[in-house]
Amino acid sequence: MRIVVTGGAGYIGSHTCVELLNGGHEVIIVDNLVNSHREVIERIAQITGERPLFYEADATSDLAVDLIFSTHQPEGVIHFAGLKAVGESVQVPLAYYRNNLLSTMVVLDNCLKHGVDRFVFSSSATVYGENQVPFVETMELGHRTNPYGETKAICERMLTDVAEVNPQLAVTLLRYFNPVGAHESGLIGEAPQGVPNNLMPYLTQVAKGVLGELQVFGNDYPTPDGTGVRDYIHVVDLAEGHVLALERAEPGVSIYNLGTGKGTSVLELVEAFEKANNLKIPYTITARRAGDIAECYADVRKAREQLGWTAKRDLTEMARDAWRFEQQTGKNNS
Ligand code: NAD
Ligand code: WQD
Repeated sequence: MRIVVTGGAGYIGSHTCVELLNGGHEVIIVDNLVNSHREVIERIAQITGERPLFYEADATSDLAVDLIFSTHQPEGVIHFAGLKAVGESVQVPLAYYRNNLLSTMVVLDNCLKHGVDRFVFSSSATVYGENQVPFVETMELGHRTNPYGETKAICERMLTDVAEVNPQLAVTLLRYFNPVGAHESGLIGEAPQGVPNNLMPYLTQVAKGVLGELQVFGNDYPTPDGTGVRDYIHVVDLAEGHVLALERAEPGVSIYNLGTGKGTSVLELVEAFEKANNLKIPYTITARRAGDIAECYADVRKAREQLGWTAKRDLTEMARDAWRFEQQTGKNNS
C-alpha cells in the first residue's frame, strides 16, 4: 500500500517507516521537524535500502496536506504527528490543543476528501486515567490528567464520531503503553531535546555520564517495591503492530492496546538496564512526581486475538538497544 506517515521522522514514526518499507509498502513522510531531524530520513534509507518520500510540511496546513494527498493518492494514513511532552502541555496548553487537534482534523478531512479509507491514530494509555489495571479497551476513558492526555481523548472521540457517519472509513486507535528501545542497528532511536522526562532516555544519559544520577520518583506506591509500575514495550514491536493494524484494518472503529501486558517497576527497569549493559546506575529516591499513577499496564488479549500481534522483545533487548543508540547516535537523531 501507499501510506502517508505524518510525524514519520519522529521516534515511533521512524521505526514504523522501517517496518512498512520492509513489508513492501510505499512510504510518504510528512513532518515539520519540530521534534526531529532530516538526517532520520537518510537513516531509514540506510537501514532498509529504500528511500521514503519526504515532505517537510506541517500537518495542520490544509493546503500542504491536500497537495500531498492529491499528488500521491495514498491508500492509508498513520498519524503520528503531535506534541507529546506532558509537563510542557500544562505550561502551554493552547499549543498542544492547536497542534494535536488541528493536525488530526486536517488529515482526517483530507482522508474524506481524497477517499483514503484507512486511518491509524497514535493514542496513549494515558486515556485510561486511573482505571483499574490491567487496562482493557472496553473501559470508559478515565478522568483527564493533563492537556496532552486530553488531546488524545478528544481525538479518539472525534475520530469515532466521524467514522460513525462514514461507514467506508476504517479508524484504528492504537493505545501505546511505554515505548522504549531503538532499532538494533543503533541508527534510529529516541533522543529528546534537553533533560529527558521519560525514564529510559534518562537512564541512558546517566549511563553516558551526561546526567549525574537518576531520581526515582517515589517509593511509597502500593506496588511490590513501592516504585511506579509501567508496561515498557520495545519500539520495534510497536512498529510491527502498526503494520498489522494497517493491513488488517476493517471499516468502523477498532481500538487496540499495544503493550506487553507485563508491569515493571522503576527499580526493576534500572536493574534490567544494569544487567543488560554491565553498568551501574546511581540513583536516589525522591518525592513522587505530580500526576503520576502507581500502575499502568495493558490487557493485550485483543491485539493478540484480532491482529495476531504480540510483543516479542524483552527488557534486556529494550535496555541494550536503547544504550546502543545512545552511544552510537544519540543527539544526532530524532
Ligand atoms: P516524536 O516527537 O519523536 O514524533 C512526533 C513527530 O511529529 C516529530 O518528528 C515531529 O517533528 C512531528 N510533528 C509534530 N507536530 C507536527 C505537525 N504539526 N506537522 C508535522 N509534523 C509534526 O514523538 P513519538 O514518541 O514518536 O510519538 C509519536 C506519536 O505517538 C505522538 O502522537 C505521541 O503523542 C504518541 N505517543 C507517544 C508515546 C511515547 O511515549 N513516545 C506514547 C503514547 C503515544
Ligand atoms: C515511567 C516511570 C515515573 C523519570 C509518559 C506519559 C504518557 C506516555 C508515555 C505519551 C514512572 C518514573 C521517570 C525519572 C522516575 N506518553 N520515573 N524518574 O509517566 O509512565 O508516561 O510517557 O503518550 O502519557 O505520561 O513514563 O518514562 O516518564 O515514567 O522515577 O526521571 O518512571 O515516576 O513511574 P510515564 P515515564
